[in-house]
Amino acid sequence: MSYSDVLIGLQFGDEGKAKIIDLLAEDYDIIARFNGGSNAGHTVVHEGKKLILRQIPSGVMYADKQLYIGSGCALNLVQIADEIARIESAGIDVKGRLAISGLISVIQPHHIELDCLFGKYVGTTKNGIGPYYAGRCTRVLDQRLQNIRLGELLMKEELFEAIADNYRFHQEIYGFESEVDLEDYLAKMRASLKNLEQCIVQEQNYLLQEVKAGKTVLFEGAQSFLLDVIKGTVPFVTSSHTMASYAYVGGDLPAKYHRKTIGVAKAVMSRVGEGPFLTEIGDDSILDPVKNAKQNEAHLDVEKMLLSSDTNTYAQGLRIASNEYGSATGRPRRMGHLDIPLMKWSIECNGVDEVYLNKIDLFNLFAQGGDKIPVVSAYQLAEGAKTDRFSPLVDKIERPDYLDIPSFSDPKKSEGTVLEIEKLVGTKIKAYGIGPAREEMIFRS
Ligand code: IMP
Repeated sequence: MSYSDVLIGLQFGDEGKAKIIDLLAEDYDIIARFNGGSNAGHTVVHEGKKLILRQIPSGVMYADKQLYIGSGCALNLVQIADEIARIESAGIDVKGRLAISGLISVIQPHHIELDCLFGKYVGTTKNGIGPYYAGRCTRVLDQRLQNIRLGELLMKEELFEAIADNYRFHQEIYGFESEVDLEDYLAKMRASLKNLEQCIVQEQNYLLQEVKAGKTVLFEGAQSFLLDVIKGTVPFVTSSHTMASYAYVGGDLPAKYHRKTIGVAKAVMSRVGEGPFLTEIGDDSILDPVKNAKQNEAHLDVEKMLLSSDTNTYAQGLRIASNEYGSATGRPRRMGHLDIPLMKWSIECNGVDEVYLNKIDLFNLFAQGGDKIPVVSAYQLAEGAKTDRFSPLVDKIERPDYLDIPSFSDPKKSEGTVLEIEKLVGTKIKAYGIGPAREEMIFRS
């Protein structure tokens, strides 16, 4: 029977989704992206090969899997050309099995300039994502087409002039200094378009036809639920829809093929960029990217930091010990306790059927030498009341309320701890990770 499943992240991104996709991909024919663009950074390690993926679906490591990039994504032609070249130089074919919706639009150079100019407040990845999605909705600005679709660009060379015109138009308004050589950038876009020509599907029901022919699909969410443009911690979110149900809009398939929703979370929570993080440890929320760069932290005494009563030092120790740095950007991530109400909220909103929980082996770091791990089970409100319901309208919340759950002597004996988390979140934890390798995922009966 044909069906599709959707996999999303339940927290603030970087939960290890690509690793789980890599683990599950074997059971599907097509791995498809439905949202986001080169702002994603997915690390996959497969049969000894490590790849950082940004736009290409994580099933790429399996030679027999088809890959699809849906119309809900943002296509950066210049970046994807580099990414494909990098993957193909590792001996993995991409273009022979990649399909890209002709309805996807392209990132234009002014999107990147505007993001560099205005993205700091949100702490964006500077990939032009916000201006891209804004431009799609704007449609036309002063008679200038803002939404340049791939399928059309392929057929109308004059749209490259529209892209150049958009650049000059925005430059005049915002006065940005050119970070790119426009002609050179357009030449790279043209070359990439030509290179991708065979992958662009003008048949809009491409995926549906594949599914009707008996294929199964795994939709791979980029970013994560709390970064959804509407349901997340607005305005500190990305600009696409990260919700599971959006897979059927941005992924170009009727929802009737949906079978189940898979949620991925990690026991050691982190967030990159600005925005509320209720269970954050320390107040280092605006991280100094130089001081906290991976290489500058490497020499520190992590064991000692993990026992520190200074919360910023402790958070720094946690970051180093759990290697929490952006895979594409290298940005240091903010660290926090496992937030149970937040997880329950994500599960509820997305109708998650089963959870994969990464980084259980590192969960013990929160015990600070003791035998209990504090997790956040509720929030204290300003008036002295307490709630165990997460809300993206977080202003009223004063501080988190902690609950201790048992630690473990050895990651292989962490089943009891996982069971406690499962009881708290009220949803099946299908498997948990006790190390980075795919063999270190423990499936539960
Ligand atoms: P943008 O998606 O580049 O516009 O960035 C908006 C927010 O989403 C920023 O806080 C980013 O750090 C965050 N973000 C975007 N992509 C990712 C990701 O793949 N992992 C984690 N955070 C992300």
